[in-house]
Amino acid sequence: MGKIILTGDRPTGKLHVGHYVGSLRERVRLQNTGDFDKIFIMIADAQALTDNAEHPEKVRENIIEVALDYLACGLDPEKSTIFIQSMISELTELTFYYMNLVTVSRAQRNPTVKTEIKMRNFEANIPVGFLTYPISQAADITAFKATTVPVGEDQKPMLEQCREIVHKFNSLYGETLVEPEILLPKNSACLRLPGIDGKAKMSKSLGNCIYLSDEPDVVKKKIMSMFTDPNHLRVEDPGETDNNPVFIYLDAFCRDEHFEEFLPEYKNLDELKAHYQRGGLGDVKVKKFLNNVLQSELEPIRNRRKDWEKRTSDVYEFLKQGTSVAKEVAAQTLYEVRDALKINYFDYLK
Ligand code: TRP
Repeated sequence: MGKIILTGDRPTGKLHVGHYVGSLRERVRLQNTGDFDKIFIMIADAQALTDNAEHPEKVRENIIEVALDYLACGLDPEKSTIFIQSMISELTELTFYYMNLVTVSRAQRNPTVKTEIKMRNFEANIPVGFLTYPISQAADITAFKATTVPVGEDQKPMLEQCREIVHKFNSLYGETLVEPEILLPKNSACLRLPGIDGKAKMSKSLGNCIYLSDEPDVVKKKIMSMFTDPNHLRVEDPGETDNNPVFIYLDAFCRDEHFEEFLPEYKNLDELKAHYQRGGLGDVKVKKFLNNVLQSELEPIRNRRKDWEKRTSDVYEFLKQGTSVAKEVAAQTLYEVRDALKINYFDYLK
């Protein structure tokens, strides 16, 4: 059996650098290794509707934004099948069968869902669809027989729930579904890039993101306003690097070559950190370096995005083609699932 990737994003906004280091950069790398037989990248609009039911226009508008961000980062429609979730009704049908394999209390125990419920103030008014989106996510993953799901750390509970569903399904109805593995970024700074305000996570609603499509002056402004060590008041003060967003970003983005190019008085990040910890290194200098690093990483992405923005009808064509390829694969799995469930009533007529 081959190695298959499935992953995706909710189209609720443009993608930011947290998405990039947490998952996108890794996807592009994996795509270009050629180690995978198939790669499916899904724009999860149906999942986005589970907490945006009142704003379907927001979901619709962001399909193209996410697709542009994908192409800008280097996902290649020749190598990766990019598709739109809701266009594949097989996924909805699979979800409905999997729902019988999950208890309400299990659904309520998913830590990521719990956090999201708090963040959205759903509390007593949780939409059923929202509570059950991890089940639909299991359908997304298993429909493509994915072996590997490259995602950020917040998706760990989804993969756990998916594996439970696979086990239960296979033990009740016979070996049908493939158990997926999560693939997390190796660099721990990439697991959860904080917002520029130092808050735990970059999120659109907190207004603390740097977007992949931000113009250079916007990126610079955001970096220069970034939160650092609050006790590092004067240049000569010793500073903390561990919980310092500026250094976490450097951990996620900078390579030794960046020092050669932008800050040759240091060989690498360890040397820079040591100086900051000793005292004598000002925040502005570190921020300027981070700005140079980030600008050099984001510039090719921004330029590619601008090129694709001129060709949105081609982008929609890729999505359409990808969706039709994905639909065929999902239909085959659904066929096998219906067979295992013994609800393939009319097959004998064929
Ligand atoms: N939950 C993911 C997000 O919030 C999107 C998603 C939907 C996904 N289905 C998936 C990711 C299946 C990986 C696999 O961005």
